[in-house]
Amino acid sequence: MSQKPSFHSLCVKTHIHTPRVTPHIQPLYATSAFAFDDVAQSMRVFSGQEQGHKYSRYANPTVDAAAAQIAALEGYDLDDEVAAVMTSSGMSAIATLCMALLQQGDQVLTQGNLYGGTTELFQKVMQRLGITPIFSDLRQLDQVEKLLRTQPRIRLLYFETPANPTLGCVDIAALTQLARQYACWSAIDNTFATPYLQRPLTLGADFVVHSTTKYLNGHGNGIAGIIVGKAAHIRGPIWETMKLTGANCSPWEAWLVLQGVKTLSLRMQRHCDNARTLAHWLNSRPEIAQVNWPGLPQHPDHAIAKRQMHDFGAMLSFELKGGWEAGKRFIDALYFCTLAPTLGDVDTLILHPASSSHLNVPAALRQANGITDGLIRVSTGIEAVEDILADFSQALQAL
Ligand SMILES: Cc1ncc(COP(=O)(O)O)c(C=O)c1O
Repeated sequence: MSQKPSFHSLCVKTHIHTPRVTPHIQPLYATSAFAFDDVAQSMRVFSGQEQGHKYSRYANPTVDAAAAQIAALEGYDLDDEVAAVMTSSGMSAIATLCMALLQQGDQVLTQGNLYGGTTELFQKVMQRLGITPIFSDLRQLDQVEKLLRTQPRIRLLYFETPANPTLGCVDIAALTQLARQYACWSAIDNTFATPYLQRPLTLGADFVVHSTTKYLNGHGNGIAGIIVGKAAHIRGPIWETMKLTGANCSPWEAWLVLQGVKTLSLRMQRHCDNARTLAHWLNSRPEIAQVNWPGLPQHPDHAIAKRQMHDFGAMLSFELKGGWEAGKRFIDALYFCTLAPTLGDVDTLILHPASSSHLNVPAALRQANGITDGLIRVSTGIEAVEDILADFSQALQAL
């Protein structure tokens, strides 16, 4: 017979109350570990004989639910089983993917116009591990083919489309086919587009990564990332690397993504409509030298974007005729839109990449790829578009 615990012990022991209810939304499992009935069950679960959770760095029901939901969205039109691993951030998703797929001496074929943190990851951390990036113009398919043919140590083709912050687009189907032809993995950062606008797995990619911090969360209240791909790939070295490097997503961050993703379709429709209005308006203004939005017919990659995207997204960038001096005055004059180093939130956000997200990317690499000193990036929100235009209009008048 068990003895009644002391008052002090009663404070410590968790009283687990398992109500016989069916929750309407995925509950938040804020627990580091999961208890077993006995040693025999623990052994069965650890050896894989029985399905079950053990420790939240390995897997957690809330994180699993968010991963499964995003996998279902990215793999919407695929017959193959698609799975996902959530990570602590977009950067840890990219790092985990590279560590799982690559080894010393391997090369990554990528582009110069990437999110600045990704360029730095390749140039600093991966390079230190003996994995070398090759920055190339991925629009030049002949050049890509030649590199893949002549450099057998290229084991990963990695790119963003639309790219941060130039909004350059590349041909996912053509590039992933070339990668497959040369037995090279392909991975696409789909953060800007989201599976609402484009599904790279359907176009032949092996993996998709996201900073879920952005549109998938949508509300700017958490940092997380995800790697999506065929279940056989994800459940092998990708999951193992996530688990052993401790790159796991916290259940709270995953729960926030689960809430945010419910409105992804609605938000993306409004985001895209507002961006369309803003891009055309900016394009008509005499103060603006160039507008980068793939939906504009004169955008150099408009045809590619039209072919592989369902709409053109809500990210855009532009250059003022007065260069960065005018840009600074423009940003400081905004009262409605917010200067903040993130994107994909419901409200409109402005960024000057050269002095923030791309500050540590070598200036020559940045400028050669269109990330100039005068470039201003806009993450168009879902507010009433008249309010965004009114703010931009008064800021341009202040120049
Ligand atoms: C396109 C893109 N990928 C990855 C990242 C990194 O994401 P996180 O900040 O969640 O690590 C960012 C961050 O801005 C990004 O814009």
